[in-house]
Amino acid sequence: MRLLRVLITGAGGQLGHDLVGVFNIQDGEEVVALKHTDLDVTDRKATLEVFEQMHPDIVVHAAAWTAVDDSEANPDKAFSVNSLGTRHVANAARRTKAHLIYISTDYVFDGVAGRPYVEWDIPNPISVYGRSKFGGEKELDPAFTVVRTSWVCGLHGNNMVRTILKLAKMELAKTRSEKAATTGLRQEPLRFVDDQIGCPTFCYDLALAIKKLAVMRYEGIFHVTNQGETSWFGFAQEVLRLAGYDPFMVVPISTAQLNPPRAAPRPKYSVLDNAALRLAGLGLLPDWHESLEMLVKQGTEVW
Ligand SMILES: NC(=O)c1ccc[n+]([C@@H]2O[C@H](COP(=O)([O-])OP(=O)(O)OC[C@H]3O[C@@H](n4cnc5c(N)ncnc54)[C@H](OP(=O)(O)O)[C@@H]3O)[C@@H](O)[C@H]2O)c1
Repeated sequence: MRLLRVLITGAGGQLGHDLVGVFNIQDGEEVVALKHTDLDVTDRKATLEVFEQMHPDIVVHAAAWTAVDDSEANPDKAFSVNSLGTRHVANAARRTKAHLIYISTDYVFDGVAGRPYVEWDIPNPISVYGRSKFGGEKELDPAFTVVRTSWVCGLHGNNMVRTILKLAKMELAKTRSEKAATTGLRQEPLRFVDDQIGCPTFCYDLALAIKKLAVMRYEGIFHVTNQGETSWFGFAQEVLRLAGYDPFMVVPISTAQLNPPRAAPRPKYSVLDNAALRLAGLGLLPDWHESLEMLVKQGTEVW
């Protein structure tokens, strides 16, 4: 039996890692996992060559420069990786007749609609990163697939779940130290914004949904997130509660109170309605609370 050859860019990233894990020989698939060190998508020649060598049937393009704040000061890097790099991957996919799935973001929207965005809403990115990812979307043929997702967290790599747990651990360690006993050092609250609302999404669930779309060759734009919405404050409270910490260690602040302020503006309300999945009867991802519980359980053993 001929195996379906799936090439994954950005295979060393947090989503890339889980993507590599969900495709397997038992399901008739073989994976070509390309980390940044194996393929730099800004190198057109190298990208075309690797596709010519590998002849993939399906390409999941998960490589990106995801440094949202750093992108503001370095737009050339953001556009070079996220827009031009995607042009190279799309060129190579066309030449080798591979089906391309591009991973995009809720940051293509401005977040002012005050209601969930459907796939047919018009993007209007407000950050360099968002513009550069939208640039990537524009490189695709209608017969390719765009998967827009948001607030991605997984077991591998850096994400907000890890950051929240690390900060909580550091605060507790500080107040339990010998110095704290003698100086009366007090625990500082963790501060998270409650005026940015989105959908947390977990790499394993997302990778499974991408596999389904890939294997069935669904074309067009799909919003794929876990279900339910929250603010970063609500998310941090739930992470702490699940990890056995006091959820009141975190206090809500507004974006304007962030100190130092973030370089990149974020959409205020970037909830993605998974309308295309829902209306096509393709099944939705679990509620974010459910998947977060699993990740916190696995994460506390591994991190
Ligand atoms: N993280 C989120 O919250 C989020 C939200 C919405 C959408 N997305 C999208 O989801 C996808 C996966 O994101 P992620 O969270 O898994 O990000 P990630 O952990 O930062 O992974 C991205 C990977 O791309 C690699 N990469 C960077 N520049 C490259 C280049 N020029 N050529 C080839 N590879 C390169 C990175 O390698 P190095 O680290 O070695 O440079 C990294 O391994 C991205 O397309 C991202 O835009 C992410």
